[in-house]
Amino acid sequence: MKSMTAMEYDKVFALEDEALECPYEHFKQARSQCPVSRSEGSGFWVASDHEHVTAVLKDPATFSSSSVLGPQVSAEWQRMIDLAAATSQGKREIGEDYGSSDRKVLQFCDPPEHTRHRKLITSALSPAAIRSWEPRIRETAQLYIDGLAKQPAVDFVKDFATGYTMTVIADILGVPRDQVDQLLAWAEGFNSMVGNPHQSQEEIDALVHVRLGFDLYFDQAMKARRQEPTGDLVSRIVELNDAAEEPLERDELFQVLQLVVVGGSDTSSTALAKMVEHLALHPEQWTELREDPSRIPAFMEEMLRTEAPVQGIFRHVTRDTELGGQPLKEGDYIWVSIGSANRDPEVFQDPDTQDISRKGTPSKYVSFGAGPHTCPGTALTRLELRVMLEMLTSRFTGVRLLDGKPASKKSFLFFGPAELHVEFTS
Ligand code: HEM
Repeated sequence: MKSMTAMEYDKVFALEDEALECPYEHFKQARSQCPVSRSEGSGFWVASDHEHVTAVLKDPATFSSSSVLGPQVSAEWQRMIDLAAATSQGKREIGEDYGSSDRKVLQFCDPPEHTRHRKLITSALSPAAIRSWEPRIRETAQLYIDGLAKQPAVDFVKDFATGYTMTVIADILGVPRDQVDQLLAWAEGFNSMVGNPHQSQEEIDALVHVRLGFDLYFDQAMKARRQEPTGDLVSRIVELNDAAEEPLERDELFQVLQLVVVGGSDTSSTALAKMVEHLALHPEQWTELREDPSRIPAFMEEMLRTEAPVQGIFRHVTRDTELGGQPLKEGDYIWVSIGSANRDPEVFQDPDTQDISRKGTPSKYVSFGAGPHTCPGTALTRLELRVMLEMLTSRFTGVRLLDGKPASKKSFLFFGPAELHVEFTS
């Protein structure tokens, strides 16, 4: 029984195409037969039902966030930081102490430190603060819609969704729009590692330039905002950190900014692309949303539940414990299967059905995590997705896939189409 559940998850961790495209059947077996099981192929535990996923996420003392990317990627990540720090350019332009911090901040650490780090970003991302961004987000969405009206056949991932969500986050950070392509290139580099431990040494070495480029840019940006604050999120982070009793180090702030840039763009663009793919396969739903846009929020929530853009995340076990009848040892890793918890029949009736009349979805699903690390970007995500879906469905009569079923991202963390060739119809 146990080896069977492990085998099912192993296909996902081995990044097999079929398992990545539709992982849910694999999850189902594990969830019903052994909700906490060990994946023999990868060597870590998996929690696959709602009860144990939320229990792990809400207990940071036992399940630490020190290695949320998992054992292999965390080691490669550190190697990338060390190699960037070893460059003469890094030390010369950023400072002799560049690279001296392990950058275990915010998503990579636990309370009580984590609580202090979170304060640097939460006020700028609060629902009220985000509401004030709506006119600007609508303008950005309009720019993208205008482009689509001229060129209705696009790779929706590369030519649309990533640019849209990165422009939104760049505006909030205060990064000029002519830097959006650069931000996208850095995010793509960082993300190529996340959820994919099968990188060659050359690929990791190449990422040193991503690390260094990002750090050099934000070092300058923070110095400029310290001298002349401009009211944006970079200024706010610098201001709050300088005033803090225990301020973070400069390199640690690079990590906070990276989490906002990467966490704030790829996740929402993946979610948007998955929604458009779904609507291309269900044209009657496009018509329904076009005729009654008030249904868009419920559609989004069901999509976020059934097709979680972040499929899972790691925690590091800090002490011997028992979970779901299994003995976990200090030092073990556990992967919480968000995508599976969201389809747990104990919590969601008829869980594989996308039902936009379902009540209470957002309060129960774990697409944005649970516990102290619950995503601080939920208000922004909901706003930018709603605005875009409203504008797309009112401007176009439908969307169709051009190349059949799109390939999935090669990651067991991020879930969604790697490319999405579609045509919008007027
Ligand atoms: C569909 C969109 C999104 C999804 C599915 C998503 C998902 C998640 C999840 C599951 C976590 C918890 C990770 C953990 O427990 O270790 C998280 C944390 C985080 N997210 Fe999001 N996110 C999204 C959008 C955003 C946006 C728009 C931003 C930025 C504005 C953002 C910034 C962050 C940050 C900084 C964290 C770390 C928070 C902490 O450790 O306290 N995310 N996100």
